[in-house]
Amino acid sequence: AACSGGGSKESGGSGKEDSGKGSKPIVIKFSHVTSIDSVKGKAAERFKELVEEKTGGKATVEVYPSSQLYGDNDELDALVSGNVHMIAPSVTKMVKLDPRWQYVDMPFLFKDQEHVHKFFESDVAKTLLNSDQLAANDIMGLAFWENGFKHFTNNERPIQKPEDMKGLKFRAQAGKVLEAQFKALGAGSATIAFGETYAALQQGTVDGQENTYNNMDTQKYQEVQKYMTISEHGRLDYAIFVNKSFWEGMPDDIRAQVEEALKEATELEWKLAKEENDKSLDNLKNSGKMEVLELTADERAAFEKALQPVYDEFEDVITKELIDGIRNLK
Ligand code: LMR
Repeated sequence: AACSGGGSKESGGSGKEDSGKGSKPIVIKFSHVTSIDSVKGKAAERFKELVEEKTGGKATVEVYPSSQLYGDNDELDALVSGNVHMIAPSVTKMVKLDPRWQYVDMPFLFKDQEHVHKFFESDVAKTLLNSDQLAANDIMGLAFWENGFKHFTNNERPIQKPEDMKGLKFRAQAGKVLEAQFKALGAGSATIAFGETYAALQQGTVDGQENTYNNMDTQKYQEVQKYMTISEHGRLDYAIFVNKSFWEGMPDDIRAQVEEALKEATELEWKLAKEENDKSLDNLKNSGKMEVLELTADERAAFEKALQPVYDEFEDVITKELIDGIRNLK
């Protein structure tokens, strides 16, 4: 069951060497939606190399970036059914299975990158990765990967205060928390798959969107968005999920080597997230196409205040345990 047929367009000779000896390598199909040069794309490629190194070619990873195999709407279903074995979605998208994953969308919950790392390593984060809701769908979470803080962009006007958001329509990833966030700011939102967002911005289906510097830069949103406000109002982070039957069906020694590879790839990913987002901010600023605006402390506080209703509405859904657990790590 571990083997998948069909030639991969990914290079990597280990599979070929092995097939000569009659034992086919275990193929781990890893699907994701961002580009090959995004933070996630780079870390996925490194993971593939590490798996092949550590297993001596007994296992290989076929990485399918840029929604080429499955997009936002179907990658989770594909994992549940075992059509792919590993995905690394923005955790927001897990709302379908467990609404607590929307912790990531709670406005201004995380202070800085260190706070995010502390959370990733915390017991409260592990309860999400090992939840019954995931197990009931034959999947499990193995690790957190980071991206960064989100910022607003739009085509209509520079945004400095909550009122500037009024009447604008934004692309959102998924879920009621993001919907409520935009509503609290007087704006509208529409769920649009990541792979379709550039076109939606270009065609004016929506006026704006929110994302990390690196996602915007690697999707070239500077070509289709006039203003960006450095708002850091929410996070976009990932978790690695695997199909449980597939994972547990791997020989123990190989699974241990793959786990080791994931651990190293995760360390690299955390480093890359900061470096690549910093580089991408420079790219966005230097593009000459998008005006980049900053918020004063007072302006930021005005956004925080305007977004307070999101906590009133969703504290029970996300659970107090999780929200307080995260706040107490500060
Ligand atoms: C998005 O949809 O904006 C992100 O989840 C894309 C990603 O995977 O980083």
